[in-house]
Amino acid sequence: MQLVLDYLKQNQPRFLAEFCDYLRFPSVSAQPQHKKDLHACAEWLVAHCRQIGLETKLCATNGHPIVVAKTPGSKAESGKRKAENKLRKPHYLVYGHYDVQPPEPLELWSSPPFEPRIVGKIIYARGSTDNKGQNFAHLKAVEAYLKTGTPLPCDLTFVIEGEEEVGSESLSDFLKTNRRELACEAVVISDTGMPSPKHPALGYSLRGIIAFEITLHGPARDLHSGGFGGAVDNPAMALSQLLAQLRDKNGRITIPGFYDDVAPLSAYERKEYARLPVTDASLQKMIGVKKLFGERGFTSSEQRSARPTFEINGLTSGYQGEGSKTIIPSWARAKITCRLVPNQKPEHVRKAVVAHLKKICPPTVRLEIEAGHGAEAYLVSPTGPQAQAALRALEKAFGCKPILMREGGSIPIVNQFKKILGADSLLLGLGLPDDNAHSPNEKFHLDCFEKGQRMSAYLWQELAG
Ligand code: BES
Ligand code: ZN
Repeated sequence: MQLVLDYLKQNQPRFLAEFCDYLRFPSVSAQPQHKKDLHACAEWLVAHCRQIGLETKLCATNGHPIVVAKTPGSKAESGKRKAENKLRKPHYLVYGHYDVQPPEPLELWSSPPFEPRIVGKIIYARGSTDNKGQNFAHLKAVEAYLKTGTPLPCDLTFVIEGEEEVGSESLSDFLKTNRRELACEAVVISDTGMPSPKHPALGYSLRGIIAFEITLHGPARDLHSGGFGGAVDNPAMALSQLLAQLRDKNGRITIPGFYDDVAPLSAYERKEYARLPVTDASLQKMIGVKKLFGERGFTSSEQRSARPTFEINGLTSGYQGEGSKTIIPSWARAKITCRLVPNQKPEHVRKAVVAHLKKICPPTVRLEIEAGHGAEAYLVSPTGPQAQAALRALEKAFGCKPILMREGGSIPIVNQFKKILGADSLLLGLGLPDDNAHSPNEKFHLDCFEKGQRMSAYLWQELAG
């Protein structure tokens, strides 16, 4: 183990240069014009994994390609064969994604999103924390084993996809087709967060999600607002009124059936939540709001990870250029996502939302609803032997006691890992709350990068032990 740790220590400058190369690819999965960049990024990963010593292939899909990289000689084992062959090493998947969120609005970045910039111990670039840096830490840990000739106590398969930020559609099919090859004890994922560098964390829940776009169509074309205003409904106004009805002053969503299956928090969990090192004051300051707002009866930490939400992610209508233009826009559109919590069924919530919108839509506009991706929430018991091993690895790497926490974000594929492969996911987040994931000036702390590598190195020992 000392050899591995020394190797990691000695090679940080090179790792950082490689990390910068990885970050230069504008691998924005949501934007069709970046298709080639995603491909190039995946090719770069393949070459890099091979250089590390992993048996690597690039798997084409209907969407963006998937990179699969195995430690030499590893074989997936499950069920009967596993029982027959006790000498086989345990097999773990390491999941990550090379795609990133759109970098817009570009004018708010202090330096271009795909030209990594290092200031002290922080690296700025789109994808630095979400998810290139977090996942790269695992690759570097495995490189340290392979390059020092230290036997790895586990067989590992890296699965790194290019569609996480748009719902992981291709990977879901890929798991079904390759379920034998990918059979494993559990999936290790660093694509979440920890509350502070002194509070490494093991996540045991993720929220689910449903996405859709609502469009209200009014007049057949934009109209002169002087000539027609007063006699025609304005789709932007109608949409504002429609959306405004969906939340009450206590922060409750008013859609009938929205909270139907929500699993309540146990007293034990609420007590644990209270121990998190986040205060409302620090949260308010970090995100720069005048005052926090959330569902009454829950703390901000609970609101952010254990309660469902209805969010407008984008709102578009009418003239968006400089100066004024006196029109009644022909249409208005909102991009919406709802976060779901354990026990809620995406299809049930989707139906409830659609039914309610249809019911309250005024007769003066035509309502169009386009469904997007969806995923259930994820919840796993943090008391099993794998979780305990993960907690020990975190403690060794970070030098302080880790905490258990629910995460508010979503990683759609974790449910498929469970359903298709029967595998739980260990969520070992390395991101910090102010890393600006999905925002301008996204960053990653190099301490998290380095400690993440050590955590990964320890993890394989702890999981096998
Ligand atoms: N890394 C995040 C997920 C995450 C972030 C989990 C913070 C927990 C805490 C991931 O890349 C992500 O952003 N997922 C999307 C999924 C969606 C587009 C289907 C999300 O949560 O919005
Ligand atoms: Zn993300």
